[in-house]
Amino acid sequence: MTPLPVFVLLSLVCFCISDDRLTTAKLLNARDKLVSSGGVFALGFFTPANSTVDTYIGIWYNKIPQPTYVWVANRDNPIKNGSPGKLVMSSNSDLVLSDSQGRTLWTTTNNFTSATTGTAAILFDSGNLVIQLPNGKHIWQSFDYPTDTALPDMVLPLSTNDGILRRLVAWKGPDDPGTSDYSMGGDSSSDLQVVIWNGTRPYWRRSAWDGSLVSGLYQSITGFILTEIIVDRGGELYMTFTVSQGSPSLRMMLDYKGTFKFLAWNSNSSSWEAFIEHPSPICERYAYCGPFGYCDAAETVPKCNCLSGFEPDGVNFSRGCRRKEDLKCGNNDIFSTLRGMKTPDKFLYVRNRSFDQCTEECKRNCSCSAYAYANLNNGSGAADQSRCLIWLGGLVDMAKFRDGGGGEDLYLRLASSTVDKEINVLKIILPIVASLLILASICLVWICKSRGKRRIKEIKNKHTRQHLQNSKLNELENESIDLPYICFEDIVTATDNFSDYKLLGKGGFGKVYKGLLGGGGKEVAVKRLSKSSGQGADEFRNEVVLIAKLQHRNLVRLLGYCTHEDEKLLIYEYLPNKSLDAFLFDATRNSVLDWLTRFKVIKGIARGLLYLHQDSRLTIIHRDLKASNVLLDAEMNPKISDFGMARIFGGNEQQANTIRIVGTYGYMSPEYAMEGSFSVKSDTYSFGVLLLEIVSGLKISSAHFMTDFTNLIAYVSKLKCSNIQQLKQSY
Ligand SMILES: *[C@@H]1O[C@H](CO)[C@@H](O)[C@H](O)[C@H]1NC(C)=O
Ligand SMILES: *[C@@H]1O[C@H](CO)[C@@H](O)[C@H](O)[C@H]1NC(C)=O
Ligand SMILES: *[C@@H]1O[C@H](CO)[C@@H](O)[C@H](O)[C@H]1NC(C)=O
Ligand SMILES: *[C@@H]1O[C@H](CO)[C@@H](O)[C@H](O)[C@H]1NC(C)=O
Ligand SMILES: *[C@@H]1O[C@H](CO)[C@@H](O)[C@H](O)[C@H]1NC(C)=O
Ligand SMILES: *[C@@H]1O[C@H](CO)[C@@H](O)[C@H](O)[C@H]1NC(C)=O
Ligand SMILES: *[C@@H]1O[C@H](CO)[C@@H](O)[C@H](O)[C@H]1NC(C)=O
Ligand SMILES: *[C@@H]1O[C@H](CO)[C@@H](O)[C@H](O)[C@H]1NC(C)=O
Repeated sequence: MTPLPVFVLLSLVCFCISDDRLTTAKLLNARDKLVSSGGVFALGFFTPANSTVDTYIGIWYNKIPQPTYVWVANRDNPIKNGSPGKLVMSSNSDLVLSDSQGRTLWTTTNNFTSATTGTAAILFDSGNLVIQLPNGKHIWQSFDYPTDTALPDMVLPLSTNDGILRRLVAWKGPDDPGTSDYSMGGDSSSDLQVVIWNGTRPYWRRSAWDGSLVSGLYQSITGFILTEIIVDRGGELYMTFTVSQGSPSLRMMLDYKGTFKFLAWNSNSSSWEAFIEHPSPICERYAYCGPFGYCDAAETVPKCNCLSGFEPDGVNFSRGCRRKEDLKCGNNDIFSTLRGMKTPDKFLYVRNRSFDQCTEECKRNCSCSAYAYANLNNGSGAADQSRCLIWLGGLVDMAKFRDGGGGEDLYLRLASSTVDKEINVLKIILPIVASLLILASICLVWICKSRGKRRIKEIKNKHTRQHLQNSKLNELENESIDLPYICFEDIVTATDNFSDYKLLGKGGFGKVYKGLLGGGGKEVAVKRLSKSSGQGADEFRNEVVLIAKLQHRNLVRLLGYCTHEDEKLLIYEYLPNKSLDAFLFDATRNSVLDWLTRFKVIKGIARGLLYLHQDSRLTIIHRDLKASNVLLDAEMNPKISDFGMARIFGGNEQQANTIRIVGTYGYMSPEYAMEGSFSVKSDTYSFGVLLLEIVSGLKISSAHFMTDFTNLIAYVSKLKCSNIQQLKQSY
């Protein structure tokens, strides 16, 4: 063989190498670009819009018409004056960018001294640029050096044992990739939280990590699901996110104004749509409400409030809040539990403490104003799973999440005299109160036994008061609740001590039993809220107050309630036909639902909903209307049930937002599922879905054996009137 053909062959091989890689034999010139094998991302030289002189090496979406750079190599060192640059793979396995004068503008620093000819820089479809040795080992990747963007499956370290944190650093301006003062990443002082900094000052902060693996779950209009995850690998924390199959292009970024965003590409409007943004414009900025003040997202329009036991210091919240009553220290202080809170900043992380030890840690030091506790759980396998946080001095940058979503319990030190006289007395003459309580409970049992279901106003009020201490329900608190309190012992008897054979079903928040109450043997349904669900207390409060106020024949009737230690029980009328879904989606029982019955059910639900939205004294959004929450009585009259997630609107409120999105996928309106904004229209959307289910007999959420069935909405929109007519006749 002559040398020539070999040379030709070699160069052929060079040209055949796909366009997604750079080798020592192939450099990148100003006009070239690498394209990942699936054509998703491209790498090359670019000049930002409105800048005609500076050139950068970057990675962008190859198929998206609007230039969107997810990574920039030489962000602070552009190639000036449009001079042609080149990117080469050096013989010591480094990528080197140089300009026409041969000055090095950017380089990786692998410092591989041995010449490794087979090394290549490969651009993957994930958007990751990787330097790969001939043996397949990755020695460098662009995902480890992010600019302002994180892509799905990219892993951002929040805390590492070697102390190296990689932050997202925002661009200087819309057309200037240079590093700005805004950055986002783990807070190295605590290793537990994500912060956006403006220079060295925090601009926005996330609540301290509490061990939950999934920190956010969102569903978009088009149905894809975004999961934000915190990974704990041997004590090192990482943040990452994944998206469900078939989702559009998605990125997380810190924009040049310091706003953290999740953006999805909408190919219909040809634009990026932000569906999560922090900080939100209202009171979410760092420490906006001052010491001991918090941003109350449970309000319809979030606003600053003072913690209980505090009052505004000065006119607005510029100086935060001050104690109504000074601490006296020693045993005169008590701790009040605040639920659903974003933990304040500037805590002391005390290691290796049980909950009780954590309480003690705070109790014994007078300057400790609050503490919070979480179990970081497994994951790390580290010996110490405890997360005891204590605060010395002021509490800044707090928020109260709506419905307690995403927050945790904060235990706040207060002077005992700040709190209810009742509790004060209880503190001082504890033994007397204790014996009184024993007496009271004996009386209670006696009264219950002897008078059956008679109302006991004092006890009832006491119980109601305990459970109505927050939110909008306060205004209802003053009005007496006309609802019987039923003894726990009676319920135990009625349900044969919660026997399994009395079990009617399991709901999101507990189990439902059938019971026979009182001498008359009245059939009731007993909902026992599970002790473990932290949501239980709020839902319970909600349900008792709400349903007690509501009287409509298409709403399920609450007959009484009961609290006993940490048990919470609701007693409803018993409906023999259980829930609508048991008929609708059951191949044998669905024949009971002829066309007229279906029509009756639809009308009934609509009446019930209209009553909730318009005709009752309050505007109530149910938020979880679905087939399993519609019960049927003996005559197949529908009754809406399960008000655990309902929200009350004031007369002139139109819309609200929530951080914790509750409800059932499929039934949730897009704007609610995506942005948490809800109104009566959200219920109307759910009603629409339910209507389709009743008419079609198909479930919104499950797969069907029909070939062209993607989801119910799409399926129905394809149907013609004649199909519906056929359907109607088939029942
Ligand atoms: C470029 O500048 C013009 C005028 O200043 C502005 O309208 C346009 O939005 C800019 N383009 C980009 C991509 O920022
Ligand atoms: C690689 O070599 C350069 C120049 O000698 C040096 O500045 C850099 O610190 C080295 N990097 C590593 C990771 O050793
Ligand atoms: C960031 O800090 C600078 C000064 O350090 C200030 O001028 C600017 O207003 C801050 N930005 C925001 C959004 O608060
Ligand atoms: C784009 O339009 C199509 C057809 O109208 C629709 O199916 C799809 O969901 C839309 N996509 C987005 C992201 O809105
Ligand atoms: C509070 O009032 C002071 C003076 O009136 C003003 O400078 C400050 O911006 C206000 N702060 C807030 C949070 O409204
Ligand atoms: C309380 O904690 C602070 C800060 O750690 C410390 O300086 C102080 O001595 C402690 N006081 C007591 C009584 O332990
Ligand atoms: C945590 O531990 C439980 C029980 O030991 C196990 O089922 C679960 O998978 C673990 N979770 C993780 C993330 O390791
Ligand atoms: C945690 O504290 C217990 C005693 O309270 C001790 O036995 C254990 O070794 C400690 N664990 C770590 C990881 O420090």
